[in-house]
Amino acid sequence: MIIRKAVYLISSPSVDKCPKADRAEYAFIGRSNVGKSSLINMLCNNSKLAKTSAAPGKTQSINHFTVASSRSEKGAVSNWYLVDLPGYGYAKVAQQKRRSWGQMIENYLRKRDNLINLFVLIDSRHEPQEIDLEFVNSLGEWQIPFTLVFTKADKSKPGRVQANVKAFLDSMLQTWQFLPQSVITSATTKQGREELLQILDESNVR
Ligand code: GTP
Ligand code: MG
Repeated sequence: MIIRKAVYLISSPSVDKCPKADRAEYAFIGRSNVGKSSLINMLCNNSKLAKTSAAPGKTQSINHFTVASSRSEKGAVSNWYLVDLPGYGYAKVAQQKRRSWGQMIENYLRKRDNLINLFVLIDSRHEPQEIDLEFVNSLGEWQIPFTLVFTKADKSKPGRVQANVKAFLDSMLQTWQFLPQSVITSATTKQGREELLQILDESNVR
């Protein structure tokens, strides 16, 4: 799949304010600072598309981007939405605000009819974190289809990344009968880009 164009559209405070659900949509979520905005930029080959920051909590609303893609240079064009969501579990924001972000995210995930797949980002440098396991369990409860994306693979030795991925999947197997697809990525080296594009291609858009 080739991304022909990606453009920022709108930032919405709630699912009710999001653009009309008239095309396929894919969203990126994960802990604050896990690399959601960076991954979107890597996928779209545009480092300035989604705002990134070394300080967690940068993305605070539901950000829609319009994407045009095709299977080949001259192939038919598909138009779809890509969504950058705020991170969950950022300790430094007030509890009240964290709760309202949580509610906003839950409403978005459960109400957005055109959401085809959610990419759940997990930092590959760490052993399984309770907050991520809890989040994927909620997705099971809400029946939201998702793919696991292990980020920042360039920051550790490959053996460490593999061990952390395996530990996460093993933890999931305590409650899950089937495991979702998973991809190891790096926004720095572009590792995993083709695999992500393949998943998008197979799920709906061309
Ligand atoms: P919030 O919007 O605050 O929730 O963060 P986010 O998940 O969108 O993370 P963002 O993309 O802003 O990246 C956070 C920090 O991690 C930035 O300093 C990025 O440069 C860095 N980063 C993201 N992805 C990678 C990666 O694959 N490799 C390396 N080395 N650094 C990365
Ligand atoms: Mg962000």
